[in-house]
Amino acid sequence: MVQLEGDAEVIHLLRAGGLTTMPSLFDPALGQVLRRVVGRENVRVVVADRTLYFKRQADYLARHEWEAIRAVRRGGVPVPSTAAAWGETGSVLISLAPRGASPLEDVRPTSLAPYRRRDLVRRVAELARRFHETGWVHKDLNLAHLIGGPHAGDLWLIDFARAQPRGRVMDLRWRVKDLASLLYSARQGGWSAADVLRFLRTYTGRDEECARRRWTTGERGLMKWVQAKAARIAWHEARVRSRVLPLLGAR
Ligand SMILES: Nc1ncnc2c1ncn2[C@@H]1O[C@H](COP(=O)(O)OP(=O)(O)OP(=O)(O)O)[C@@H](O)[C@H]1O
Ligand SMILES: [Mg+2]
Repeated sequence: MVQLEGDAEVIHLLRAGGLTTMPSLFDPALGQVLRRVVGRENVRVVVADRTLYFKRQADYLARHEWEAIRAVRRGGVPVPSTAAAWGETGSVLISLAPRGASPLEDVRPTSLAPYRRRDLVRRVAELARRFHETGWVHKDLNLAHLIGGPHAGDLWLIDFARAQPRGRVMDLRWRVKDLASLLYSARQGGWSAADVLRFLRTYTGRDEECARRRWTTGERGLMKWVQAKAARIAWHEARVRSRVLPLLGAR
C-alpha cells in the first residue's frame, strides 16, 4: 500500500511516469543517484522534460517534511511543487525543479548587475523573515536550500527535513541559528559584508528607514549575535576540515 499526497502538478508527472507504487518509486534503476547513505538516497529523475528530486528514506521523514511544507505555505512561504509517498517500507519526498531554476549557492553575486544583486539579497531576507513569522525554524538554512529562477521574484525554499514549529513568539536564539547558518553559507558563496548588512536590514524590517536613521541597540545586538555565531560556524568548519581531510588523504 502506498499513501500518495501532494500538488497536482507533481502527482500528474508521477502518473505520467508510472511512478505511483512503492516499488516503482524505489526502483534502483530510476534516475541518477546524487547521494546515497545508509537509509537514504537522493535521486534526480526526469519525466516528460521536467526534473524531479526524489528523497528516498527508510523512515517516515517524507511525511513529516510534507506536513511542514503545507504549514509554512499557509504562511506565504514559496516552496516548489511537492508530493510525498509513504508505505510500510519507507517514504519518498518528490520535489519539482522549477523551470530554469538553480540553487543560489551556484549564483555568484559578482555575475549580477548591482541592482539585481541588491534585489536578490532583499528577496532572500524577505523570504527568511516570512518563514520565521510562520513560527517555524528551518535548522538547515543555507544558499543550497534557496532556489532561484529566471524571472525577477522567483525564489523558493526547500528541504524541511529538520524544520520544527516553535510558535510565533519564538525564542530569538532559534532564529539566530538559522540566520547565522544562512549568512555563513552566503559569505562562502561570495556575498560581501554590504550584502550581509542589507540582508539584516531587510530581515529586521528597517530597510526603508535605514538611510535616515541609525541602528537601534536591539538591531545592533542581533547583528553582532548573528555574526558571532556565523564566525563560530566558520571556525568549527575549518577545524573539522583540518582534522578530517588529512585522514581522507585530501588537502
Ligand atoms: N525542487 C528543487 N529544485 C531544484 N533543486 C532541488 C529541488 N529539490 C532538491 N534540489 C536539489 O537537491 C539537493 C538536495 O535536496 P535536499 O536538500 O532536499 O535533500 P537532502 O537529503 O537534505 O540533501 P542535503 O543533505 O545535501 O541538503 C538540494 O540542495 C538542491 O540542489
Ligand atoms: Mg538538504
